[in-house]
Formats: sequence, C-alpha cells, structure tokens
Amino acid sequence: MTKVIITGSQGRMGQALIACAKSIHGLEVVATIGKGDNLAAVIQNGDVVIDFSAHAATVEVAKICAANKKALVIGTTGHTDTDTFEIKQHKSAIPIVWASNFSTGVNTLFWLTRKAAEILGPDFDLEVVEMHHRLKKDAPSGTAKSLAEILADVRKLHLNEAARHGRQGLVGERKHSEIGVHAIRGGDVVGDHTVIFANVGERVELTHKASSRDTFANGALRAAQWLVQQKPGLYDMQDVLGLK
Ligand SMILES: NC(=O)c1ccc[n+]([C@@H]2O[C@H](COP(=O)([O-])OP(=O)(O)OC[C@H]3O[C@@H](n4cnc5c(N)ncnc54)[C@H](OP(=O)(O)O)[C@@H]3O)[C@@H](O)[C@H]2O)c1
Repeated sequence: MTKVIITGSQGRMGQALIACAKSIHGLEVVATIGKGDNLAAVIQNGDVVIDFSAHAATVEVAKICAANKKALVIGTTGHTDTDTFEIKQHKSAIPIVWASNFSTGVNTLFWLTRKAAEILGPDFDLEVVEMHHRLKKDAPSGTAKSLAEILADVRKLHLNEAARHGRQGLVGERKHSEIGVHAIRGGDVVGDHTVIFANVGERVELTHKASSRDTFANGALRAAQWLVQQKPGLYDMQDVLGLK
C-alpha cells in the first residue's frame, strides 16, 4: 500500500487528487495539508508527498521531504530560478517526479512536438499558445514552457533568449530564432495547448485540450506509486510512462 500525503489539498487539484485516490487500488491518502497545516508533524505517516500547493510553498515541502527521506511528486508550476535551484538540490537525497503536466495526452504532445520539430526542420516558425481558466495565477503555463523548451532544445537555442512572450506595438518582422509563447485567460478552461509550426505555404498545429482535472490527478497518483520504487534522483512524467 502506497501511503500518500497531499499538500495544497484545499485547492482545485488537491480536491481532484483526494477524489481520484479513492478509486486507486493499493494507494491510501493518509494526510491532507492545507495552508497553515504542519507537514513536518505528519510526514512520518506517509511514503510520498504529492504537492499541488504553490510554487513558493514547494521549496519548503521539498526541504521537509528530503530531511525525512520521503519521495516527492511536484505538480506546482510558476517556479522562479531560485525555487528551481533550491528544489533540485534535494534530488541526491530523495526520488522526485517533477512534471509541468501529468496527463498522458500532454506527455504524448511533448513527444509529438519533438518529433515534428525534428522532421519539419529549421524553416518553420514556432509558436506556442495556451489557454487556461481565469483563476490561474502564473503565465505562461508550465506546460507551455515545457513545450517551448522542447522546441528550443531541437533548434539548439537558449529559451531565455528565443522566447517571445506576446507581441504588442511596432515589434518589427518576426525573427527566425523566435519561439512565440502566448497565454490566454478566461472562463473555466482546464488547459488547452497548441504548438504551431508555420512555413510559407503550409502550417502544422498540434493541440491538446484537457476537459477535466482528473487527468492530471490520476497521472500524479500513478507517478506516486511508481516513485516509491525508485532511487533518489529527478524524474519526469516521461520516465513514469516509460517514454524515454
Ligand atoms: N502539473 C500539472 O499537471 C498541473 C495541473 C494543474 C495545475 N497545476 C499547478 O498546480 C498548482 C495548484 O493548482 P490549483 O489549480 O489546484 O490551484 P489552487 O486551486 O489555487 O490550489 C492551491 C492550493 O494550495 C494552497 N496553498 C498555498 N500555499 C500553501 C502551503 N504553503 N501549504 C499548503 N497549501 C498551500 C492554496 O491556498 P490559498 O488559496 O489559501 O492560497 C490553495 O488551496 C498550480 O501551481 C498549478 O499551476 C499543475
């Protein structure tokens, strides 16, 4: 039995995790941690923590997991470079799955995006468009960043230099090295992502649309069950799904 602790339990994803966990065989939620609750006080009851709280909170969650040698599944997005640096320091102490998106469909999109970028070659202009509900706090989404990172990797570009976040005013002609990233917000959209490959005379668009948070929750719970068998290290959902 995999004993799971959920942080950010009062949020949209936290509630989806609690509901989905009820129908997973061999997994039990032993504690739920909302804002103000003390993770350190209950961590010994669990094997693995699933964190869908907030980017800054994840730094402390990771520290507590490492100190207590508990596995950690990270679902939060919007981390600063400092957050990322601090969290990654714990990978030699505990196994961590860190994924900007836990859905099988989006991880298929990651794979397809890499393949399409390789096949279509350098002449195609690359743009990523995402849409999320009006309550989402960070932009662009972690998934859009992951897609842009895949594109930058294939083109051998540094994303910090290549990323073009939205356009406004007299921006001039599109540079060949740009990777456009655009965030749309509105309504109750769970998460849409499109990667556009545009050339003169043709265009390819790869799109994923999530209509339920259960897809992320079930992926994160699957990752937790997989992770408790792993050695310390940093893994992603492609590792969990065996796509590498
Ligand atoms: N990787 C994926 O597949 C995936 C999918 C969906 C969402 N996400 C990410 O997951 C995170 C949560 O998303 P959501 O839509 O569930 O957001 P949400 O509804 O705002 O839920 C986050 C919850 O965490 C709470 N929280 C904040 N700091 C905390 C702390 N230190 N300890 C415990 N709880 C704390 C918040 O409380 P307050 O509201 O009081 O601040 C809120 O209840 C976001 O970063 C989002 O981008 C990832």
